Amino acid sequence: MRVLIIGSGGREHALSWKISRGGKAETIYCAPGNGGTAQEGENVPLKDSDVAGLVAFAREKGVDFVIPGPELPLTLGVVDAMREAGIRCFGPDRWCAQLEGSKAFAKSIMQQAGVPTAACGVFTELEPARAFVEEKGAPIVIKADGLAAGKGVVVARTREEALEALESIMGGVFGQAGSRVVIEEFLEGEEVSLLAFCDGKTALPLPSAQDHKAAFDGDTGPNTGGMGAYSPAPVLPDSDLEAMADVAIRPVLKEMARQGHPFTGILYAGLMMTKDGPKVLEYNVRFGDPECQPLLMRLENDLLDVMGACIDGRLHEVRLSIRPESALGVVVAAEGYPGSYEKGMEIKGIDEADALPDTKVFQAGTARSEGKTLSSGGRVLCVTALGADLAEAQKRAYEAVAKIDMEKSRHRSDIGAKGLRRL
Ligand code: AMP
Ligand code: GLY
Repeated sequence: MRVLIIGSGGREHALSWKISRGGKAETIYCAPGNGGTAQEGENVPLKDSDVAGLVAFAREKGVDFVIPGPELPLTLGVVDAMREAGIRCFGPDRWCAQLEGSKAFAKSIMQQAGVPTAACGVFTELEPARAFVEEKGAPIVIKADGLAAGKGVVVARTREEALEALESIMGGVFGQAGSRVVIEEFLEGEEVSLLAFCDGKTALPLPSAQDHKAAFDGDTGPNTGGMGAYSPAPVLPDSDLEAMADVAIRPVLKEMARQGHPFTGILYAGLMMTKDGPKVLEYNVRFGDPECQPLLMRLENDLLDVMGACIDGRLHEVRLSIRPESALGVVVAAEGYPGSYEKGMEIKGIDEADALPDTKVFQAGTARSEGKTLSSGGRVLCVTALGADLAEAQKRAYEAVAKIDMEKSRHRSDIGAKGLRRL
């Protein structure tokens, strides 16, 4: 099989690593890819948003199977376009991708499906939005409706902060994405991610995972794309997975199908475990990055088989086989990320870290140049390890991080700590 993966992050390296181990792919292309995917297969200089270019490339090379990693190509309709070209493509079509592409759309589906979520108001005009904030008071959460590279959510501690966020979002800092805002009740609790393979009717949940969005230890500092993740998260044990899928995943599948748009791909529910029970904060329509890295280290099934079953509506025939160990990934980032940072730093020690037992260095913002691996982005690596339990996975991942030598880099030193405290 010839496979094309779209994207350039640690998630995409994990996808290509997993597929190359499965042995069913003769060639793995990655567009645009990174230093890691270049080793697993062949990088293609096409942007993830260049849907027409990606379809033309897939046609020209006789690609049989396409896997978009990030949300952007999905919301731009890459699945629809590949399907029209007769190419199998794993993920939701453009209509279904609105679950991530529009927070107002997601809220409306949740309400129709009866999924527990924060109370909210949706606004396209500043004055009524302001009045709503004045009435509700703080803390309150302001969200740009559209995609804003993970930066469109402001958890406002004060009324002033909320009004400021409203003005900047509706004033256009995120362009069209902020022309509509969702203003939401503030929820308190521990966050956890539940991801499920979906074929339109059937949902097969993966074990839980927990991301670490804040830049610094103790969940302080600005939000990032994710500084580390582990699986399973004790806050959502395996014994609760099916029940949670019944609350947060399956009602949405049913509602989407009822509206004539069956959802295929990964449905990812971002959950807040509140004292009043679980509530859905958001849906993503793809693997999370970095959640994907520990999850794929635990998945034993052939990934192309499971994804193919999703496309063919045969997921009811599949059983997921999951390694019993815990997996934990630590993101090594460029100093300054998520603000401004330097690129082009040489990274040494990847092979030494990879040589440790049950350890894999997934590359994100890296590029190969003259036999060296150089940093080319904010999140540079996700160093991931398996261990008999969470404590061992954590120990191994940090042992591997210690092998990495890169100037002006940093990482959180407390990935997994919240889970360990709960145990
Ligand atoms: P979202 O993209 O909607 O998941 O929001 C990004 C992050 O903002 C979440 O991971 C939470 O940490 C936080 N957040 C979003 N909605 C709420 C809420 N209603 N209450 C508290 N925190 C929230
Ligand atoms: N790690 C969160 C995300 O991928 O959206």
